Amino acid sequence: MLIRTLELQNFRSYEEASVSLSDGLTAIVGENGQGKTNLLEAISWIAGMGSFRGVPDDALIRLGADAAILRATVESPDGREQLIEAELPRIGRNRIQVNRQRLSRARDLVGVVQVTVFSPDDLELVKDGPALRRRWIDEAVVSRHPKHDALRSDLERILKQRNALLRSAHGRLDGDAAFTLDVWDSKLAAAGNAMRAAREDLLAEMAPRLAAAYDAVARESAEVETIYEASWHGDLAEALAGSRQLDVRRGVSTVGPHRDEIVLRIGGAPARTHASQGEQRSLALSLRLAADAVVRQAGVAEPVLLLDDVFSELDPGRAEALLDALPGGQRLLTTAAWLPPAATPDQVLKITAGTIVAASG
Ligand SMILES: Nc1ncnc2c1ncn2[C@@H]1O[C@H](COP(=O)(O)OP(=O)(O)O)[C@@H](O)[C@H]1O
Ligand SMILES: [Mg+2]
Repeated sequence: MLIRTLELQNFRSYEEASVSLSDGLTAIVGENGQGKTNLLEAISWIAGMGSFRGVPDDALIRLGADAAILRATVESPDGREQLIEAELPRIGRNRIQVNRQRLSRARDLVGVVQVTVFSPDDLELVKDGPALRRRWIDEAVVSRHPKHDALRSDLERILKQRNALLRSAHGRLDGDAAFTLDVWDSKLAAAGNAMRAAREDLLAEMAPRLAAAYDAVARESAEVETIYEASWHGDLAEALAGSRQLDVRRGVSTVGPHRDEIVLRIGGAPARTHASQGEQRSLALSLRLAADAVVRQAGVAEPVLLLDDVFSELDPGRAEALLDALPGGQRLLTTAAWLPPAATPDQVLKITAGTIVAASG
């Protein structure tokens, strides 16, 4: 899958922009604050209908404008071209069209374009609490098995509704509410058991790629492990029954996949608390590389690589090593400073004040 062209209107700092992209390495260069990341963000929005920076769509609409428009032509491996258009209005729902046909369900866009994003914020994947790691694994699960997108959104909805019911019970469950809670429990048990299994299977599938990626990026061999720590033992239905009193008292769901942790270890020690900053950075990059490798090797997709400012954070040795470890295909990287000398872009886009002022290659 290749992105051939990208067109933006009133997206972030871009009033109008239009660019053809090379199918190899594109370097997006410019001073800080000029709009480099915004370009990658536009591409990632088309892939996942959301910003990889984790901001609401409203932030993506150019200040003072009523709607942002994104347009991309993409080419699948069989040479078929598709035109993807998205309109993000400040008021009302997003409109998404593929080949000028409105998608009845916006989520049907998921999987048409796949991206793997590397960002300096990925360090938080290793250093922060479990929520980011759960998001990482769930994104990877959906990339690996696009049909699990439904599982992920079902789970979100079920938890929201179950928590709303628990909150409204104010610590005491009457008969009707108890019956409704039974219904949500059986839905949560089914979806929760399935999501946990999908996560654990994927971690197992990823393990050899994670080890290889870490060795390559860190340029040293260390045992890297991911350990899934579920918030329950056995069957989730039984665990939910067991925690019901507590859940009612607290007004939240205390067990389930939304409370699970993925512990990352390097050389037998928890990376979050024991690893050096350099090791944590290498591990964060490796987590992205491993998820990407699994998707490629399973033949699901060839994700477009988006590397936001990652080389500036690395020492030259690690930067070279990352460059070597990247799979081929379409890659876009941003930089305000230097590029590893071994990086030979097929195309350079220079960005100044929300305008692509020069394109070469
Ligand atoms: N919704 C928006 N409307 C207008 N400008 C925006 C909007 N969101 C961000 N910007 C501007 O975009 C610029 C940052 O772009 P960014 O792509 O993050 O820069 P960089 O080149 O450093 O990656 C800032 O000048 C910011 O004010
Ligand atoms: Mg940036």
